Amino acid sequence: MGFTFISTSKRRLASGNTFQNLLTALLLLIISASVFVQQGYGQGQPAHNTGAKYRRGMVVCATPNAAQVGLDILKEGGNAIDAAVAVQFALEVTHPEAGNIGGGGLMVYRSAGGETSTLDFREKAPASASQNMYLDSAGNVIPDMSLYTHQASGVPGSVDGMVEAHRKFGRLKWADLVQPAIDLAHNGFTISRRLASALNYDSKQFKKLNPGKNYLLKEEGWREGDLLVQEDLAKTLTLIRDKGRDGFYAGIVADQLVAEMKNGNGIMTKSDLENYHSVWRKPLTGDYKGYKIITMPPPSSGGVALLQLLKSVEAYPLHRWGHNQDSTVQLIVEAERRVYADRSKYLGDPDFYKVPVDSLLNPAYIKLRMNNFNWNAATPSSSIQPGNLAGHESDQTTHYSIVDSEGNAVAITTTLNDSFGSKTFVKGAGFLLNNEMDDFSSKPGVPNMFGLVGGKANSIQPNKRMLSSMTPTIIEKDGKLFMVVGTPGGSTIITSVFQTILNVIEFDQNMQQAVDSKRFHHQWLPDVVDVEKNALTSDATAILQQKGYKIVDRGPSGRVDAILVSPGGYYEGGADPRGNDTKLGY
Ligand code: DON
Repeated sequence: MGFTFISTSKRRLASGNTFQNLLTALLLLIISASVFVQQGYGQGQPAHNTGAKYRRGMVVCATPNAAQVGLDILKEGGNAIDAAVAVQFALEVTHPEAGNIGGGGLMVYRSAGGETSTLDFREKAPASASQNMYLDSAGNVIPDMSLYTHQASGVPGSVDGMVEAHRKFGRLKWADLVQPAIDLAHNGFTISRRLASALNYDSKQFKKLNPGKNYLLKEEGWREGDLLVQEDLAKTLTLIRDKGRDGFYAGIVADQLVAEMKNGNGIMTKSDLENYHSVWRKPLTGDYKGYKIITMPPPSSGGVALLQLLKSVEAYPLHRWGHNQDSTVQLIVEAERRVYADRSKYLGDPDFYKVPVDSLLNPAYIKLRMNNFNWNAATPSSSIQPGNLAGHESDQTTHYSIVDSEGNAVAITTTLNDSFGSKTFVKGAGFLLNNEMDDFSSKPGVPNMFGLVGGKANSIQPNKRMLSSMTPTIIEKDGKLFMVVGTPGGSTIITSVFQTILNVIEFDQNMQQAVDSKRFHHQWLPDVVDVEKNALTSDATAILQQKGYKIVDRGPSGRVDAILVSPGGYYEGGADPRGNDTKLGY
């Protein structure tokens, strides 16, 4: 916003008197800078995040280097999937907090012709995982065992996912898509202030979990502008470039991974790696006021929850009430409370648990769930239980959105779970392992790192996929591509995607505004409304508090990276200023 402001003022200045112009320019600069500081966006906002619109293609992702790699692939004639594969590997190098080959992810794809598919490359529990593996002899959850140990890692799915996506839809040569990441790892890249502080923040953990030297550690501490070279990772990526799937799930890298497991008391084996396969799943679709929502089915809870949330609020005049006004917030919170209660009971890996998707999305059921809230007072979460479904027996990450010149679109959310995953490297192979096992329910009712609770549906079983909140989503309007959206943020992913969609459809915000807008979040338990700084006016806050809502301030929520097709067919990006997220188009 600040940059657009300055450039508009520059244009206006062109014809005026010089001294006056200078004064006005100074004034505008000061105002504009103060707007930035107030919003807390002073750090790392790339200069190209303007309101520019593009005709041919667009990449919005977590780092400027990866966005450039994706854009180059599009310009070389690659399609959206080619660009996605290149971005995924470039993020492994330039966004080690979440970009990964040691984790997994979920993809939603829509071709220019309107065919849709989703690819589940979520991690799986190793074959020797067991339901109570994180409990002590008294049956209590052992703190941090599902987070910062070798047993915290699920079998990685990202490399297989990229191979599979490329096999089905790719156009350019595989090797050419992996090469830019190899170059970034081998030649190094200069790190941002954000990455420097993230690396410094976790240095103790890196040391503790990885005895010996490793290149994410720097004794004197990392500083913005330092060069990060990752030679071991370059070698691993070269094997992936040359051998595809076998470059990771077999041979040297598989040996290194299994050796790492043996040294660290882990349970992942060679056959776990050999047996890992990503799965094409039928997209989950729904309708919101004539917009077609195409999203991720289980093992994500995100798609089901997003469609439930949209249906829960559809009948109400959100547009008239206005963005983040008390009634809007109250309705959304009450919907979220109920939907997250359902999530805790009914959502899990559909290959292991019969997830009652149709019942959860039945409009009559959703209406019934919303019938019992009271405008005068907050419904306590203690009085809300997961719904009764007739006939039914009795979950650090990064997102990128890409569109190409033909109109093919891809939304991918990919994760190591926590920032830098389990903080454990595969020694010699240069990559970090996920701690996705924490997304399972270690014990019924005991919250995971995101405060989410679960039960049988999401209990640990051998080879099962842990429930995810990742919600990569594509929206159509009148049969044409309208929006590509998604975000990291653990349990807040679903509510961030939900609000971003409402910001555009209900509150007439453009893509960047919809992403910038402050967000809030409720997840049933704990019974609090988390709000970003200045998300609500003091009036709205007071009204909601008086009704019994417990409002709690939280830090920045999510990193939404999205693309909107604006009238005339122009691509308009929204890159989240809460990170170093970058949008590039041509
Ligand atoms: O799949 C999930 O729901 C989580 N593993 C996502 C974690 C996440 O988004 C953390 N990032 N901020």
